[in-house]
Amino acid sequence: MLRRPKGGAINKKSVRDLDVNGKRVLVRVDFNVPIRDGRVTDDTRIRRALPTIRHLLESGGRPVLISHLGRPKGEPDAQYAMDPVAERLEELLGEPVLKLDAAVGPEVEEALDEWDGRGVVLLENSRFYPGETKNDPGFSDQLAALADLYVDDAFGAAHRAHATTVGVAGRLPAAAGLLLEEEVDYLDGVLQDPERPFVAILGGAKVSDKLGVIRSLLGVADTLLVGGAMCFTFFKAQSYEVGASLVEDDYLEEARHLVDEAGEKLVLPVDVVVADRMEEGAEAEVTGVDEIPSGKMGLDIGPHTVELFEEHISGARTIFWNGPMGVFEIDAFAKGTEGVARAVARASSKGATSVIGGGDSVAAVRKLGLEDEMSHISTGGGASLEYVEGKELPGVAALPEKGA
Ligand code: 3PG
Repeated sequence: MLRRPKGGAINKKSVRDLDVNGKRVLVRVDFNVPIRDGRVTDDTRIRRALPTIRHLLESGGRPVLISHLGRPKGEPDAQYAMDPVAERLEELLGEPVLKLDAAVGPEVEEALDEWDGRGVVLLENSRFYPGETKNDPGFSDQLAALADLYVDDAFGAAHRAHATTVGVAGRLPAAAGLLLEEEVDYLDGVLQDPERPFVAILGGAKVSDKLGVIRSLLGVADTLLVGGAMCFTFFKAQSYEVGASLVEDDYLEEARHLVDEAGEKLVLPVDVVVADRMEEGAEAEVTGVDEIPSGKMGLDIGPHTVELFEEHISGARTIFWNGPMGVFEIDAFAKGTEGVARAVARASSKGATSVIGGGDSVAAVRKLGLEDEMSHISTGGGASLEYVEGKELPGVAALPEKGA
């Protein structure tokens, strides 16, 4: 069994601290999952919510689940209805799922009163109501009227100050779910008390999205490996020839400062894979980072960089990774991300704690079938990045402290 980092222990009331027997429990889950042709195509977030749901059922609670799905505009929109989620949840849970076609109101209250209490209830998409994203007090009151207790297990939505994540938490006895606890425990462990060396790996397209995260990780990690298209902004900042690579010209000054401040801690690629277009079948070649031909764009880290990054990763005791090293959806530009994923998996198998911070890096890990090798894979892309950046997550802040 993989080790949890020391130091990470969320100081919030836990679902384990609640007496749920015979009580109706409104559970905020993050079932914002991809759906195609009426079927859930990635059920990870549903699976990860099962421990909390099962805990409630085994403790005699009556779970009433609520989530957002997609970004409907505050009114019902059939393409974002929760029915495919209910279907998949029922298969995974092996218990009946009563799916309601609304989230609040007299009809929902009536249906809950008539519910035989078997399995769980899944309410309709919370974003079918304008009050959700506005954290509207009236909508929060309506949500609170549905249950005796509230449990927040939606780490992926914890960076949103909405009615289902914040408003209702102040209106019912509230606690954190098991997934939310696990997410915060791992991230806290990494940020507060990492076993060293701590190697952080960041990729992705834009420096502008990750400035806060870069600063935060430079403060806590021993080494920060940077790949993905964002490194071209760093290279241009050092006056390298970057050809047609993606560069954020507005951030060159900032990038220059970061390189100067970070010194040896910041490790940038030494070679890159370039092509004249970002397409399957494009002719790829490897070049040094200061000699990218004009008209060509960098689309992956090169083989020497993979080796360099592997060396750092193999010596790490704690690893945090967010963002792919290249355009991994296209085979010709996937080797960097693949090399890093395999190196992280190998380090994990030797006892390092590895935390994958959501988003595309999770998709890459999944594509390679390496999920089970990692210590923790976050279900929250935006939420985990904001947390690493040092921002308070409203959904977590709204929950009462342990002992409160
Ligand atoms: C996510 O997928 O990152 C969360 O479910 C939050 O979704 P949102 O960005 O639409 O708020």
